[in-house]
Amino acid sequence: MTIDTARLDAFMGNFVRDIGAVMHAATVVVGDQLGLYKALAAGGPMSADELARRTETDPRYLLEWLSSQAASGYVEYDPATQRFSLSEEQAFALAEEGSPAFIPGAFQIGMAQFKAVPKIAAALRTGLGVGWHEHDAALFHGTERFFRPGYAANLVAQWLPALDGAEDRLRAGARVADVGCGHGASTLIMAEAYPTSTFVGYDYHEPSIAYARGAAEKAGLADRVRFEVATAQDYPGRDYDLVTVFDCLHDMGDPVGAAAHVRHSLADGGSWMIVEPLAGDRLEDNLNPVGRIFYSASTFICTPASRSQAVGRCLGAQAGEARLREVVTAGGFGHFRRAAETPFNLIFEARA
Ligand SMILES: C[S@@+](CC[C@H](N)C(=O)[O-])C[C@H]1O[C@@H](n2cnc3c(N)ncnc32)[C@H](O)[C@@H]1O
Repeated sequence: MTIDTARLDAFMGNFVRDIGAVMHAATVVVGDQLGLYKALAAGGPMSADELARRTETDPRYLLEWLSSQAASGYVEYDPATQRFSLSEEQAFALAEEGSPAFIPGAFQIGMAQFKAVPKIAAALRTGLGVGWHEHDAALFHGTERFFRPGYAANLVAQWLPALDGAEDRLRAGARVADVGCGHGASTLIMAEAYPTSTFVGYDYHEPSIAYARGAAEKAGLADRVRFEVATAQDYPGRDYDLVTVFDCLHDMGDPVGAAAHVRHSLADGGSWMIVEPLAGDRLEDNLNPVGRIFYSASTFICTPASRSQAVGRCLGAQAGEARLREVVTAGGFGHFRRAAETPFNLIFEARA
């Protein structure tokens, strides 16, 4: 055995970065949960004692937490004053719920993955599925909080205008079904933007639908939005002008069955918007930092979710355009095109 020490050093360098990130992730979840980033953003530069007073936490622990954040580049530290602060950019990403760069939700998803280790280890042996509903609630909240900023930034401004005629129909008053809606973030953003249209969000996961109903009430949108428990293969209603699926087609066991049902539920001239994780068609296209996030989530969440349902197609979170086109055309759609993309998402339009 000959070890190339330069390659080993490079690998160990990656390891140091990775284990630091993993351990740091837990500190982000705690800081987010206790409102530490928000208090630091609101209060300006402060000592650990001051932040502890403002957040009713223990000052010695806070010094350690703040030091960990400074070592990770998540807060600034000024040795001259021994005060900690958030830069504008750090505050935008860590303290401003709803900013397009808000990231704490992603760490909740990471936490849900760790909690799922026993189930996923067993599933890898047995080949059985692990449904979305079998995960810790951190996954449902983390997904909503991590995905919503991207939808808020892009959905109304970029993605819907990229579909043929959809925006005009939405302005005139359209019937929209948002399928696999989870906590309903995308549904509510659309409902807010198009007050003359009506929206129904469907998801098979009852607790998510209950949460979404509450969110619609809170947002004052319950007059034009409903949320119902139903699967993508059997949701009720016909003549929808627009059907949307956000980051969930690949989670379904039977995406072809879902596509056929969407086709059946659309009005003449209606369109289907499919939002999926950014991916190339070949595995080697996705061996990059974004693919790394998606393949890990896919191993723990998406692929076992699909396996848990009838058919169990297991597209995976890095399905890519070619495989998605196969699914959509097998469901009876004649037209399928890439309408837009972001660093994290591919947006497709399908029409009869
Ligand atoms: C990654 S989450 C995305 C949630 C939401 N669309 C969003 O972007 O925030 C995937 C969602 O798909 C739902 N789902 C999975 N399989 C489904 C099916 N066959 N029918 C309806 N919903 C399904 C899950 O319950 C979950 O809420």
